[in-house]
Amino acid sequence: MDKPSVGELTPPDRTLLGPGPSDVHPRVLRSMSTPLVGHLDPSFIEIMDDVQELLRYTFRTENQWTIPVSGTGSASMETAFANLTRPGDTVLVPGNGYFGERMASMVERAGGDPVFVDAPWGEPLDPDDVAAAFDEHQPDLFGFVHAETSTGVLQPNVSALTSVAHEHDALVIADCVTSLGGVELHVDEWDIDVAYSGPQKCLSCPPGASPLTLSDDAVERVFDRDSQVRSWYLDLTELGGYWGEERTYHHTAPITNVYALREALRLVAEEGIEERWARHEHLASGLKAGVEAMGLELNPEPEYWLPSLNAVRLPDGVEDEPIIDHLLSAYDIEIASGLGDLAGDILRIGCMGYSAQPRNILPLLAGLGEALDEQGADIDTGAGIRAAMDSFELDG
Ligand SMILES: Cc1ncc(COP(=O)(O)O)c(C=O)c1O
Repeated sequence: MDKPSVGELTPPDRTLLGPGPSDVHPRVLRSMSTPLVGHLDPSFIEIMDDVQELLRYTFRTENQWTIPVSGTGSASMETAFANLTRPGDTVLVPGNGYFGERMASMVERAGGDPVFVDAPWGEPLDPDDVAAAFDEHQPDLFGFVHAETSTGVLQPNVSALTSVAHEHDALVIADCVTSLGGVELHVDEWDIDVAYSGPQKCLSCPPGASPLTLSDDAVERVFDRDSQVRSWYLDLTELGGYWGEERTYHHTAPITNVYALREALRLVAEEGIEERWARHEHLASGLKAGVEAMGLELNPEPEYWLPSLNAVRLPDGVEDEPIIDHLLSAYDIEIASGLGDLAGDILRIGCMGYSAQPRNILPLLAGLGEALDEQGADIDTGAGIRAAMDSFELDG
């Protein structure tokens, strides 16, 4: 066999304004080029402690069991569902977006029976519908998506949802992949039992070590199981040896990703979590003002607007692909199309972490306007850019 001739790695210099990943903060990138220590090195144990403390701050929780799971957001998600679901459990999951389906699939693999509470894609769950689903199915667990990346919907009334579940003695698992570090989230105050996330969205960190937090009740449920968790790798009763008091080997942690997460979370703590939520809202408000002044609309009702993921409705007769292609080829900007029930109807524009800056949003609006113009849409690009500049208070 000939030696492969593969050139040096030179990925294009993109601006990531899609549904994730977002642009990585330069300080996080720098942390990833620092030397490795062993995953049981005393210095790494300290780093693990730092990450846990910073994660508790970011999740707004006192939960002892707060760790990064090795793997992408789906790994922290599966850790939640695989450990909490016992064979034969009924688990209520949402039918209003892409990630409820993934929850259902994980529940089935864990031996549980998923049942759905529905709402149209583009709308949040209604607590009354959740209550009715509880009366009908008496589920043991309830999973919901706080920030649905497929629809750009922020679930309001989280406390109302968790109250319904707790009145029925069920535990709650919240998908916070697109909210953690960018959108208001209070794990303890809202009585969420398990919350998981990914680092590559509002934390502006590469994927690879994914946040997870469990309340004492959730931990008790995991350790009280009669049957083994069906995944060896994600079994929290085994992982506890590594992330708990003992610090014994389970698997080799993705050390560089843990460095990166530590730095990303340090940036959150330096800025302040409330200030960070406010900054995301301010920048996404500029984007929203811009697209609306151009003559476009966001798909969700204003009360459910998710600042970290903006679902922009395509005007009638306009196709998504040429717009996405134009932004990538002319501006090196990545955005994404709609999924599932909203495929072909929306564009998904992220406003997360280090990507969320006027210097990215203004060219995005320019390129979006050009591509829409090309397809004959009635768009006022200049008005959009002016509205965004006004919102960012960029006079000049
Ligand atoms: C809401 C939500 N949940 C779960 C995931 C899965 O995360 P990952 O793709 O990192 O495995 C994503 C990823 O985009 C997401 O947006």
